[in-house]
Amino acid sequence: MRLSSTPVLFLVCALSTHFSLAHKENHQTCRNVPGSAGYPKAAAWSKLNATIGGRLVNVIPTAKYCARLPGGTCTDAQWTSALFRSTIPGSMNNNNLEQGYDFTPPSLCLRNATTCGQGNVPTFSVEAQSAADIQAAVKFASSNNLRLVVKSSGHDVLGRSTAPYSLLIRTAGLQNISMTNGFFVGTRNMGSAVTIGSGVHAQTLYQKTKANGKIVVAPTAATVCPAGGYVQGAGHSALSPLFGLAADNVLEFHIVVASGELLQVNSISHPDLFYALRGGGAGSWGVILSATFRTFPTFDEAFSVIEIAATSNAAMGALAAVHAHHIFDLEPVRAGQYFYVFAATPNATALTLQLLTHIPNTTAAQAAVLLAPFRNAALALPGVSLVAEEYVVRNVNDALFTADDTVGSDKVIGSRLIPASVLRERPETVGKVYKQLLDAGGSPGRVFCRCGRYSLPVYMLLHALNVNDPTGQVAANADILSAVHPAWRTAKTHLLTGSFWTDQTPLSKIDVLRRTFQTIQLPIMEQLSGNNGAAYSNEADVTEPHFQTTFFGPNYANLTRIKAKYDPDDLFIVPAGVGSERWDEWGLCTV
Ligand SMILES: Cc1cc2nc3c(=O)[nH]c(=O)nc-3n(C[C@H](O)[C@H](O)[C@H](O)COP(=O)(O)OP(=O)(O)OC[C@H]3O[C@@H](n4cnc5c(N)ncnc54)[C@H](O)[C@@H]3O)c2cc1C
Ligand SMILES: *[C@@H]1O[C@H](CO)[C@@H](O)[C@H](O)[C@H]1NC(C)=O
Ligand SMILES: *[C@@H]1O[C@H](CO)[C@@H](O)[C@H](O)[C@H]1NC(C)=O
Ligand SMILES: *[C@@H]1O[C@H](CO)[C@@H](O)[C@H](O)[C@H]1NC(C)=O
Ligand SMILES: *[C@@H]1O[C@H](CO)[C@@H](O)[C@H](O)[C@H]1NC(C)=O
Ligand SMILES: *[C@@H]1O[C@H](CO)[C@@H](O)[C@H](O)[C@H]1NC(C)=O
Ligand SMILES: *[C@@H]1O[C@H](CO)[C@@H](O)[C@H](O)[C@H]1NC(C)=O
Repeated sequence: MRLSSTPVLFLVCALSTHFSLAHKENHQTCRNVPGSAGYPKAAAWSKLNATIGGRLVNVIPTAKYCARLPGGTCTDAQWTSALFRSTIPGSMNNNNLEQGYDFTPPSLCLRNATTCGQGNVPTFSVEAQSAADIQAAVKFASSNNLRLVVKSSGHDVLGRSTAPYSLLIRTAGLQNISMTNGFFVGTRNMGSAVTIGSGVHAQTLYQKTKANGKIVVAPTAATVCPAGGYVQGAGHSALSPLFGLAADNVLEFHIVVASGELLQVNSISHPDLFYALRGGGAGSWGVILSATFRTFPTFDEAFSVIEIAATSNAAMGALAAVHAHHIFDLEPVRAGQYFYVFAATPNATALTLQLLTHIPNTTAAQAAVLLAPFRNAALALPGVSLVAEEYVVRNVNDALFTADDTVGSDKVIGSRLIPASVLRERPETVGKVYKQLLDAGGSPGRVFCRCGRYSLPVYMLLHALNVNDPTGQVAANADILSAVHPAWRTAKTHLLTGSFWTDQTPLSKIDVLRRTFQTIQLPIMEQLSGNNGAAYSNEADVTEPHFQTTFFGPNYANLTRIKAKYDPDDLFIVPAGVGSERWDEWGLCTV
């Protein structure tokens, strides 16, 4: 290992690795990393490899993988494809998450570059196919005091599924799906349900459930794994107004915990861990093999796309205020809506608001009537004009199916859940906040938006959580005992902003962009969320200084206790996750 490309802290770690984690009097303890005395020798790795059927692989960054392909590079189509990246063990969807920006000196592996550092990418991966593979890997990591990470899709925007010098357990191979009309928890029949391996992509789940006449609460994404990080964070969906969050609809997990035991976890078996796995944060509890979700009969929905252009930031602000006012129009029908602000080209002066609305059991004509009050009020504003408008009826599984996700950019995001009361009482503040966020500038880039265009740093996502409608299911599920942040139950929208860069951006600028949410965007957003607002841990800023309350609110004390019970040696540590306050940025040494 080359010391010149390691984090500064590594030097301290290497010297102190002979202290095991049990020796707490040493104040600082570190994981064994390549080159340190306690790191497993080649023979030990070979033995692990033999135990798991040869499924141990060396891990390399995406750009290095591409450089080894015939032609020496990936095509743009490959580079930006989540499906392509899901075949590469070391790949994250966001290019920046593979980089070691904070190493001294930085360790980077950029596309088409002539040099390549390992950066934030793991050293080895166990390409798990079974519970036994995972149990062997967990025991190996635990007994050798290794930095352990878990990944299913690599979609994580906080970088929690990758870490330097780590052993990765990748669950992409866990592709089992089974459906039943009667899923039992103990003696209680919970009705129809689907059990999926933690490597199953959302797109596959939508197709498989459709074939059985069912639908399930899942993300609007192709390769996000519903039984991976998604459900552990809470899991929002276009169907949440109708059926609640994914964490509200999960009935059972099978998970390998730090001891190496495979546990069946549900409301009666390890209920404390069940509580934690429902919203308590991705990657902090063990390695999930499978999760079982409630299913519902499938149905048709009206799907509407409306695109409205605004000629200035002020006009977009006014449009956002009108939208905030009319958000409540969607409540009676429990529609879910995503909305994005984007520029058609990176430097365009005109901005576009795109609204994607999913309205269950509705005709196209009814959908147009429902959205007309918003549409007409919007088009009456100065500097605002209609770009496109469409209403179609589709099967809901088909409407939510996405063929691939456009990824591969460098970006960070930040977010807040916005209370319904704020939108109801002060829709004009929403307009002000949009305008200020746009005025503050930022670097345009793609966000999760399926529009495939250049979204500006304002991106809003509505779940029409229907908190004032007693039938709105996210609000109605408030009494479920789980680690879902209670702010979800009274929120109406989830407001995200991002900062984007490219391989050509200077490191000093990247440093600034990584802090832009806390320094510039959050203070603007707090006009809506208040100073102690909540954020969705899966779509958030990894540098949140008070992540314990921002992500987990009143649940953090319980989560800390449950963590100590199931993971007493902090084997499963992720940035901004439960227990991470005890560890450095890389999860390599305690602080
Ligand atoms: C294009 C896109 C669309 C999105 N759409 C939505 C959406 O509609 N709704 C929504 O709520 N969120 C959405 N998200 C956010 C998404 O929920 C998070 O990125 C989530 O962390 C993805 O989980 P993953 O397991 O697929 O990702 P990974 O990067 O593989 O993992 C994310 C986290 O989960 C942990 N993890 C992964 N697999 C396992 C496992 N088997 N056992 C234990 N821990 C595991 C990892 O350690 C890491 O902490 C979207 C993200 C993107 C990039
Ligand atoms: C693990 O074993 C397989 C099969 O023998 C081999 O192809 C692979 O290279 C080994 N992995 C490592 C990291 O040596
Ligand atoms: C890398 O090379 C490919 C193929 O030549 C090209 O399409 C792409 O734009 C290049 N990317 C960068 C970041 O230079
Ligand atoms: C997947 O299903 C098969 C057949 O039922 C089973 O043998 C196997 O153990 C399952 N794999 C996992 C990881 O659950
Ligand atoms: C956008 O503006 C930047 C900076 O002025 C310039 O470098 C870039 O080429 C422009 N892009 C397009 C697509 O016009
Ligand atoms: C859709 O309508 C059908 C037929 O009236 C009904 O059975 C079903 O429950 C409805 N589904 C939803 C999600 O409203
Ligand atoms: C913490 O867990 C206990 C059960 O052990 C539960 O009664 C309590 O409501 C939980 N607290 C929160 C804030 O969820």
